Amino acid sequence: MKEQLEKLREEALLLISGAEDFAALEGARVRFLGKKGELTAILKQMGSLSPEERPVIGQLANAIREALDEAIASRRQYLEDKALSERLVKEELDVTIPGTPVKMGHRHPMSIVLQEATDIFISMGFSVAEGPEVELSEYDFDRLNIPVGHTVREWQDTFYVTEDEAVHLRCQTSPVQVRVMEKTKPPIRIISPGRVYRKDEVDATHSPMFHQIEGLVVDKGVTMGDLKGTLNALVRRLYGPETKTRFRPHHFPFTEPSCEVDVQCFICGGAGCRVCKGEGWIELLGAGMVHPKVLQMSGIDPDVYSGFAFGIGLERMTMLRFDIDDMRLLFENDMRFLSQFQGV
Ligand code: PHE
Repeated sequence: MKEQLEKLREEALLLISGAEDFAALEGARVRFLGKKGELTAILKQMGSLSPEERPVIGQLANAIREALDEAIASRRQYLEDKALSERLVKEELDVTIPGTPVKMGHRHPMSIVLQEATDIFISMGFSVAEGPEVELSEYDFDRLNIPVGHTVREWQDTFYVTEDEAVHLRCQTSPVQVRVMEKTKPPIRIISPGRVYRKDEVDATHSPMFHQIEGLVVDKGVTMGDLKGTLNALVRRLYGPETKTRFRPHHFPFTEPSCEVDVQCFICGGAGCRVCKGEGWIELLGAGMVHPKVLQMSGIDPDVYSGFAFGIGLERMTMLRFDIDDMRLLFENDMRFLSQFQGV
């Protein structure tokens, strides 16, 4: 039995030290040390030994088990080290090689101006409301006091979606006023930026799709003075603290009185130049006191509440802000134009 054990030790050590991978090593362990392994098989015959032989063989068997355990552990360590160094070689990374440059995008000039204007209004206590671009004519026209027969309701001005003229692409952001008023009790203080659509030919100052920022304030005791103060605060923050404004009487069906607001040309200071077309003033927006009928149609009592509203063209604001003389540049996605706004 002693020779049997010696032979086993020799054979096992050879196999273990030659194991090329973890599977082979595990195979060797199971074969010699496993429950049904060769060492166990030999030990099962211990019963046939004499009492003198038994402790001697027992000791030898234990020594062999320990030797094999050790050999397996050291071989496993060797295989692990080898696998690691192979991986390190394979995954070698040269951190000194220059990286592939990542092209950073940046905001569109209109997004820049919209963000600026939004920040200004939010600082004055406004919140942002949104409305659908495909709008009910009821909201965009009827409830804004724009009666059947008004020119903006004609097919040549409006993109109708349904034959019965009940649904169209909104031609202004003013329907959001109605949507907010019918859901919210005063005090109301919102702006609503978004796309609007009109059947205009494309030229340097027109596009069938453009953007407006609507504003609406409704509360007790709101006056034209609040409207002027708010809009003055806006233009001063956008175009500088010295900026002068001019409020001209105008007509909108949904405001009474109505006005258009011009800013004194900040290029020439009012003397007249190319940007203001010699006028000294640049038209910026339409505004007015919300018509009592409009309040009433949205369930707000005009004897208790009053309000003002305004609508600013975002393209116009952007063109003024960056001295852009052709609106088409804003929509053509020409990188030579757009890349000038990197980092603005
Ligand atoms: N909706 C008007 C337009 O598109 C602008 C406006 C809004 C005027 C709110 C007065 C009040 O021209």
